[in-house]
Amino acid sequence: MDKPAYDSIGEIYEEYARTAPFKKVERHSMATMIGPLNGEAAYDFACGSGYYSRLLKELGAGPVLGLDLSSEMVELAKRREAENPLGIHYQTADCSQLEAMEPVPLVIACWLLNNAPDEGVLRAMLVSARRQLSPGGRFVGVTFNWNYQREYYDFHKYGLVITEQDGGSPRRRIVGEFITKVPTPAVEVYQWNQSTYETLFREAGFTALEWRPFSVSDQEKTDYGEEYWAELEANCTGIGFVASCPK
Ligand SMILES: C[S@@+](CC[C@H](N)C(=O)[O-])C[C@H]1O[C@@H](n2cnc3c(N)ncnc32)[C@H](O)[C@@H]1O
Repeated sequence: MDKPAYDSIGEIYEEYARTAPFKKVERHSMATMIGPLNGEAAYDFACGSGYYSRLLKELGAGPVLGLDLSSEMVELAKRREAENPLGIHYQTADCSQLEAMEPVPLVIACWLLNNAPDEGVLRAMLVSARRQLSPGGRFVGVTFNWNYQREYYDFHKYGLVITEQDGGSPRRRIVGEFITKVPTPAVEVYQWNQSTYETLFREAGFTALEWRPFSVSDQEKTDYGEEYWAELEANCTGIGFVASCPK
């Protein structure tokens, strides 16, 4: 198996997450979708260096386990936990191949599903998430927005750039880079169409699926000015989702 893509960019991705205006909007959107928590246990799929695992704790989660394919990302997450202990656990794992663990009411996955190169892997990711959820549980995350058109929208000023977009339905191939001091190697992801997602979420056993466009917070409108966010609001690279299991 090839080395996981993120094994070579761990700290660079962290710099991107710390500095990119895009990440602030994404974080606000994730926090809004997850909402306040009251000690619920949660899994963070594709946790990277733990950015959203830590957000889960800020929102009031109980036990949190972060899982990621890249051992380098997991090591970074563990280092951040050692520097600032929040009681989060991390593990290296392929989130398309997970057996049932302790059921939880919440699984999140920010930028996992867009890594699926084919329908089989996308289905396996959704089934892996569904398998971990207790009755009425929620699967919340962000994936690549099927409407995003590279030729009309340049996301450079938001901290990322899409350099290639090719292929057609049901999924396009996307190549992007994060804007950081040390240039990131290109990362390849997949832009699946809406109907494929909807079919596969349903087949995995989710009974409700809501798509949530990114929302810019009042704080970011004040800090950057409303105009600054126009391209992002017109056609964003990311889109949020909230899927639920039957009670
Ligand atoms: C863009 S990063 C997102 C990290 C974090 N969720 C965030 O939003 O800051 C994408 C992550 O997905 C992970 N990933 C890709 N395929 C995966 C899989 N099959 N299982 C688990 N993690 C995966 C990568 O290793 C990488 O850390």
